[in-house]
Order: sequence, then structure tokens, then C-alpha cells
Amino acid sequence: MPAGSTRGGQRHLGGTMRQDAWWLELLPVIFLLGAFGIYATLRAFEGTYYEWGPYLSPFYSPLIDRHHRWWPLSPALLILVWPLGFRVTCYYYRKAYYRAFFLDPPACGVSEHRKHRYRGETAFPFVLQNLHRYFLYVGFLFLIFLWRDAFRAFFFDGRIGVGVGTLVLLFNVILLTTYALSCHSLRHLAGGKLDCFSCAAFGGPRHKTWQWLSVLNERHMLYAWISLITVGLTDLYVRLLASGAITDLRLL
Ligand code: FES
Repeated sequence: MPAGSTRGGQRHLGGTMRQDAWWLELLPVIFLLGAFGIYATLRAFEGTYYEWGPYLSPFYSPLIDRHHRWWPLSPALLILVWPLGFRVTCYYYRKAYYRAFFLDPPACGVSEHRKHRYRGETAFPFVLQNLHRYFLYVGFLFLIFLWRDAFRAFFFDGRIGVGVGTLVLLFNVILLTTYALSCHSLRHLAGGKLDCFSCAAFGGPRHKTWQWLSVLNERHMLYAWISLITVGLTDLYVRLLASGAITDLRLL
């Protein structure tokens, strides 16, 4: 019997014949996703310290109704649902948090605790995970704003310059773009549902695009984590500047 098998009647939560410490891989997910979730929630509700000089926090971009003419709460709350929805419905993150937070299942070859009939993602609320491709489309719109922010970060009072924050914003948007380009839905959009590229309209360009996206897609998990950490750190950097806790180092 394979090491990962749950046969033999071991259907209680955590039942497995695996000999390795399978639960170890859950810990970084719990820690990182948990820490990011708490930090992002606090920052989204804070509503201040999101801008310094030419730098704008990615949590607040695009900045809507900054003077609270019609929206009394934090501007971040107006846009949060889109990047959050994109991450929450991401195929990789789904696997990660289903395992780490719902223990459903806790790991490969480890039993979950199930009282009810398994319906996967075919019933509410998990059927909403199928909205991922639409969050992707809106995500690209957000990337346009973030690239604009990175571009603006090169201008200090009308003069071209480079600060540490410029590089931080630039690095952040490059990683977020890489994460979005490595998306499974995007890869499917380019080359999914096709048995024959040469028989399809625009088959050649689609095949090339699909090949490039596949290269990125192989490391989707890596980009998911790195971009999550860097977007949080980018916001933190802008917050520390805006609150006066640190000063920005001008490089040029
Ligand atoms: Fe992860 Fe689309 S599958 S972003």
C-alpha cells in the first residue's frame, strides 16, 4: 500500500499512513496568510499614512475620494474587494488555505473530517471561486494603476529622481505582474480548450503566448508568495515614511 494511502478505514481527521511530518507544511501557510490577513485588514481600515511624496501605497491604489466627499471611510475599502477576490479565488491559494485553515483535506493522503456529502466547489459559497477569471480581468486594470504609480515614483516635485521607495514600488509591480501572468486562468485563456493550435484562429501567436505563460505558470506558487510578501512590505514602507518613522534615501 502506498505511503500516502488512507485506506484501511482511517477516515477520522488526520488519519493517514504517511510517516513524514506532513503537518509541517501547513505552518508557514497559517503564519503568512494569517499575518498578511491581519495586517492588510488593519491597514485597509486605517485610512491614513498611505502616501508620501510621489509614493502611493498599493493598498490604496487607485486612490478614490481621498477628501471624503461622498465616502466617509477609508478609501482602501472601496477597492479592496478586487485584489482580495483575486487572491482568495486563486487556484494555488485555494489549495493552501483549504488545507491549512479548513483541514479539508489537511494534506495529500491525510483524511479530512466530513459529515456531509462532498459537493466540492459546486455549491454556495465555494461555487463563487469560479469567478476567478473575472477577478483576473479586473486585476489587470489594477496593474495599470500600479504601473502608473511606479512611473510617478520617479518624479520628485517635477524633477526626475530615484529613491529607495521608487525601487520598492517598481519591484512590487513587477512581481505583481509576474504573479498575474503566471495565473492558471490566463494560461487557459491562451491555450485552453484547444486540441490543435495550427487549426485555430491565431493559432501561432496563441501557441507562443501559451508557451511563455506556461513557463511562468510552473512557478505560480512561488510568485504568489513573493508578491504577497512584497505588496505588504511596500505598503509598510510607505506607511513608515508617511508616519515619519523613517526617511526615504534618495539615490539619484
Ligand atoms: Fe492563481 Fe490565477 S490561479 S492567480
